[in-house]
Amino acid sequence: MLEHQERLRALAAADRRGVSNILILKHMATIPHSGPAPVIAIPSDAAVIRVEDVHKYYDLGETKVHALRGVTLDISKGEFVAIMGSSGSGKSTFMNILGCLDKPTTGRYLLNGIEVSSLSKKELAFIRNSQIGFVFQGFNLLARTTALENVELPTLYARVDKGEGQNRALEALRLVGLADRMKHYPSQLSGGQQQRVAIARGLVNRPAILLADEPTGNLDSRTSVEIMEVFQTLNDGGLTIILVTHEPDVAQFARRVLQFRDGRLKSDHTVKNRPRAEEVLRNMPAVED
Ligand SMILES: Nc1ncnc2c1ncn2[C@@H]1O[C@H](COP(=O)(O)OP(=O)(O)OP(=O)(O)O)[C@@H](O)[C@H]1O
Ligand SMILES: [Mg+2]
Repeated sequence: MLEHQERLRALAAADRRGVSNILILKHMATIPHSGPAPVIAIPSDAAVIRVEDVHKYYDLGETKVHALRGVTLDISKGEFVAIMGSSGSGKSTFMNILGCLDKPTTGRYLLNGIEVSSLSKKELAFIRNSQIGFVFQGFNLLARTTALENVELPTLYARVDKGEGQNRALEALRLVGLADRMKHYPSQLSGGQQQRVAIARGLVNRPAILLADEPTGNLDSRTSVEIMEVFQTLNDGGLTIILVTHEPDVAQFARRVLQFRDGRLKSDHTVKNRPRAEEVLRNMPAVED
């Protein structure tokens, strides 16, 4: 088992020397592998996410970019939120703050009632690894690593018992309907399947929140709906999901849509007559071979 874990770490390190995957590995590698987990008391009745008058400036020396200009909102447990808005409106900046990858310049962000800016680096990494799953547009899978191993990787960094990691990875692959592809390498999978592996990887540490930044951006329309079906099923099971998308067709599968413009929240509305992705798929023409 130890050998297996070392092999996985070595694969991850080798890939890190390559050009891709830097981001996801950076997220996953911030936790030391030993020592006790920090004890953080989580109030039970708070909104999962509370954002109060958040501003974000990027300091570029001579110029400053004011990317978020006073965003205030709450997201409760079990919500399924789509964030829309034109390019540069601050969606990814906002997601990075929600995912504890970046901090607001001013304003407050409370995750499960805890003010994130009050946490130490170690506590923050622990929260990120245990509470938040990430899915990206570009999948960010390690190329020379099987689907199962890709999914298992984040468990190495989250103090999951040896052996348990593999069980969880298989369970997560089952959730996205890919248990039968666990031995495949990313190049042996379709784009939609690769994204499902990436979703399984985002779920493997059993996060409270799944954050997805344009998860269907690289997929054709049918495959996008298939991914939304996975998200709807996960959300039905109680998972809080927040995703960024440019496509209204994708956003309609969420329960709530936030519209960003110029760093501000322009609108916030509940989706009426939300379609079930499963039904939409039944009425869509099958892909021709
Ligand atoms: N690391 C950074 N340093 C400096 N400026 C940044 C940085 N990241 C984003 N910005 C700027 O902040 C603003 C918001 O960017 P952000 O990436 O949040 O937009 P977005 O809504 O996700 O756009 P897109 O739809 O193109 O992904 C933009 O003007 C962008 O140029
Ligand atoms: Mg973006």
